[in-house]
Amino acid sequence: MMNRPILIAGNWKMNGSRSDACRWAKAALAASRATSNEVALFPPAPWLTDVGEILDGAVALGGQWAHTEPYGAFTGWTSADMLRDAGCQYVLCGHSERRHLGGETDAVVSAQMVQVLEAGMCPVLCVGEKIDEREAGRQTEVILRQLDAGLDALPGKDAPLVVAYEPVWAIGTGLSASPEQASQAHGWIRRRVTERDPERAAGLRILYGGSVKPGNIDGLLAAPDVDGVLVGGASLDPEAFARIIQGTPVQP
Ligand code: PGA
Repeated sequence: MMNRPILIAGNWKMNGSRSDACRWAKAALAASRATSNEVALFPPAPWLTDVGEILDGAVALGGQWAHTEPYGAFTGWTSADMLRDAGCQYVLCGHSERRHLGGETDAVVSAQMVQVLEAGMCPVLCVGEKIDEREAGRQTEVILRQLDAGLDALPGKDAPLVVAYEPVWAIGTGLSASPEQASQAHGWIRRRVTERDPERAAGLRILYGGSVKPGNIDGLLAAPDVDGVLVGGASLDPEAFARIIQGTPVQP
């Protein structure tokens, strides 16, 4: 198995003042020094450069969203090039809030991924089923459809990619997937990538997201095929997030 360093990502969504952002960034940087886990922060766009200055490359910076076009008359949106210039290495593509609150389709997500890759950054492709899809037994179909669309956007074997499995029913609800449920879905994802590109599959980091907390981090990291986490709510609490950053897989 190829080396897949654990990646702990904090997605602040539309939260925090400028001073909160600076405080949270300093706390995450300090916590990152006590672990070999990689850490990435996804602040709101207006705070990217402030947070980037604090992190100074020791913790990665990510954008929460990029437009499907490189520039133009798109009031209020942000381009991939702007995120790269602000110091980002990663960009979330297809987060469930964008898919379901913003109505973004697989085709839109793929077009965003193309922009992110052309700008020289790594897309974090988010996939995951809604509760009704899970209850109807359609979760594999939904996850693999979203995954395939993202894989189709990659221009070649060397294009960087991280996948995040985020079941919509677990996001912001306090109801996390169990390590077994996460592992099962990550297994589907890795198998599909293996069918399409075995070399990529071996090195692909698949993160779990959805109500990750200090109390469930170690169990999730111990689950086969879970290579890190994407954290929303708990990344806004510096103490909780420090504990998650320092998560260590424990064998069950
Ligand atoms: P949550 O959000 O940790 O608050 O559930 C996860 C996410 O949306 O990335």
